[in-house]
Amino acid sequence: MKGPKLWKLAKEIIASGNMLLSKNPDVFLPKLWPAYFKKTKGCFIWDLDGIKYIDMSTMSVGTNVLGYNNSKVDKAVKNVVQNGNMSTLNCPEEVYLARELIKAHKWASFAKFARTGAEANSIAIRIARSFNKNHNIAICGYHGWHDWYLSTNLSSKDGLKDHLLPGLSSIGIPSNLKNSVHPFKFNSIDSFKKLVETKKIGVVIMEVARSQRPKKDFLLEIRKICNRKKISLIFDECTTGFRENYGGMHKLYKVYPDLAVFGKAIGNGYAITAVIGRKEYKKFAEKTFISSTFWTERIGPSAALKTLEVMKKQKPWKVIKKNSIFLRSEIIRIAKKNDLKIKISEVPSIMAFSFDSNKHREYKTYLTQEMLKANIIAGTSIYLSISHNKKIIKKYLNTLEKIFKVIKKCEDGKNIYKFLNTPLCQSALKRIN
Ligand SMILES: Cc1ncc(COP(=O)(O)O)c(C=O)c1O
Repeated sequence: MKGPKLWKLAKEIIASGNMLLSKNPDVFLPKLWPAYFKKTKGCFIWDLDGIKYIDMSTMSVGTNVLGYNNSKVDKAVKNVVQNGNMSTLNCPEEVYLARELIKAHKWASFAKFARTGAEANSIAIRIARSFNKNHNIAICGYHGWHDWYLSTNLSSKDGLKDHLLPGLSSIGIPSNLKNSVHPFKFNSIDSFKKLVETKKIGVVIMEVARSQRPKKDFLLEIRKICNRKKISLIFDECTTGFRENYGGMHKLYKVYPDLAVFGKAIGNGYAITAVIGRKEYKKFAEKTFISSTFWTERIGPSAALKTLEVMKKQKPWKVIKKNSIFLRSEIIRIAKKNDLKIKISEVPSIMAFSFDSNKHREYKTYLTQEMLKANIIAGTSIYLSISHNKKIIKKYLNTLEKIFKVIKKCEDGKNIYKFLNTPLCQSALKRIN
């Protein structure tokens, strides 16, 4: 297999082997993971040996709601490549995209674009800190790799345990950031109130949902407290935005932030992220220095404009939601039938499950190994796209049923290691909020 060989080289000459932990082959199947792709289409991936797989994982961590190589989005990008991606003048598409995002979010009146989620969150944090005289931040969720976020762990090694990973090192993060960022528990208004009362919070940044949906009035309570205490509220919708509806998921709960951040789905695989904000924040976004060369390239906003146009017409969330609800209920049914205890997240379009067993990592490795034998790329997170049809989902479920039967036998005493052809997978992100 060419992939594992190349990965071996990658680990020698690229720090950590690649650029994203969630695509690290060792997080899936050490030594056997195909690791690299030659081409993609719909929900299919071809590896370097030309072997075709169904992607039943996260479709590139949530970037491709419209499937890989969506022909309409690709056509818009090809058009840019033909006519020029960069110039000394600006691209008009960024203005059209700002207009479209503002139209979709009536509370917002300006936008700013970047190319990664972490960058966009840092922009939002800078704007909010410029606006607000209190600079301490309350976080809830994963918001990227930047110093301000990782500084959460300066005061406690487990600050980010429930939001990213347990025991994450804060090496390289300036110690003077200590005590500036504080985590709170999702769906716990008490944990939020406690922070606000004790830590001089000026900015709140949070995901609207992840493995859990917000409890009734949780977001509303946060909004009210922020209003009362003059705290800036940012919704990080890098993952949730444009998956369940046109725009941020916050629109479904009718609670509106001061700034919102979008990423992943809005470019359908092309790099583009966005911050939008209320009118009164614009002046402060202009007072502070926020500027970058490649934020001006044209592929990102052109891809996003076409993606949003296709989404508006196709409403992919309708099909994805229906299929995801079916898939989720079938996973639960198969687990029950085999008397296996699993935990499964609440939001079907960003689904994840785990085995409620001290052998979770063994079982996850086995699952990935057996799925791969059936030409399915899979871990325990599943983000469906518009390209996943019932036939594909059923193939996955049939394979899952066979896997769950073996796992059940292992729960009853068989040795799981007898079934494993690779070392155990490494721990992936633990985002429990
Ligand atoms: C909610 C959220 N915010 C921020 C990020 C970081 O985005 P990126 O990896 O593009 O920097 C992610 C990525 O997983 C995310 O899910």
